[in-house]
Amino acid sequence: MQGHVVVVGNEKGGSGKSTTAMHLAVGLMRAGHSVAVIDTDIRQGSLRRFLENRRDYARSITGHVPMPDYFEVAAMDAVGDGADALSGVLAAARAAAGVVIIDTPGSATALSEAAHSFADTLVTPLNDSFVDLDVLARVEVGDAMTVKGPSQYAEMVWKQKIVRARRDGGNMDWVVIRNRLSPLDSRNHQEMEKALSQLAQRIGFRFLPGFGERVIYRELFLAGLTIMDIRETADAGGLSMSHLAARQEVRALISDLRLPFLAA
Ligand SMILES: Nc1ncnc2c1ncn2[C@@H]1O[C@H](COP(=O)(O)OP(=O)(O)O)[C@@H](O)[C@H]1O
Ligand SMILES: [Mg+2]
Repeated sequence: MQGHVVVVGNEKGGSGKSTTAMHLAVGLMRAGHSVAVIDTDIRQGSLRRFLENRRDYARSITGHVPMPDYFEVAAMDAVGDGADALSGVLAAARAAAGVVIIDTPGSATALSEAAHSFADTLVTPLNDSFVDLDVLARVEVGDAMTVKGPSQYAEMVWKQKIVRARRDGGNMDWVVIRNRLSPLDSRNHQEMEKALSQLAQRIGFRFLPGFGERVIYRELFLAGLTIMDIRETADAGGLSMSHLAARQEVRALISDLRLPFLAA
């Protein structure tokens, strides 16, 4: 088995990388796939913390809670920045699971850049705001919108695409997803839609709707659960409309990522 590598990246904190990584990991496990996880955000370690919480929860109940294989990268390379150790850790993770999900920090570390060079699929969550869009490209919005050029993150992704192509001839599918979409902000929503369509071509990504702004995406963190843990969350007080919508959003994302092992 050679697991498909999904990197969740954006050089901006708070855009929803760890949230996306958690929901993808649990959503894929709940759909019956074997999942391995690597957290390259050594400082915050949100995904690692989530899994610690999940382990504690699993110990506290009698039922089965699926756990991904967790691979530690920092411990393997205490002196360096971890980038050298990554390929070894990743080889083990890819041998262990059908899909490997890598969370990255909101800053340009060597380890994060190295992780991007191994992405079969790169998922970049973006808050629905021009402040966040600026991470992808310099955009000027006057009468017409003009793209001034890629920003540092987009350039870094291009660089790592080349590193990847040289290493094994492989290709990266770059997917930008919009996060924390608010139903109340339709004007901004449309402007963002326009800007993203133009950028998608220029910069080389495709974009997907992603996740709405919903409490359910954050309130289960301490239990190490997500809305994709349907039985556990339903036991805790039933599913609301927002819960059902969130589940549908995660499922749609998993399907729209077109992961090769899910191809019919
Ligand atoms: N769709 C969403 N709805 C509600 N809260 C969200 C959503 N996405 C992210 N958050 C919250 O926003 C904050 C930042 O998200 P996080 O996933 O930690 O971002 P990153 O890993 O990119 O720094 C967290 O408090 C998270 O719970
Ligand atoms: Mg994070």
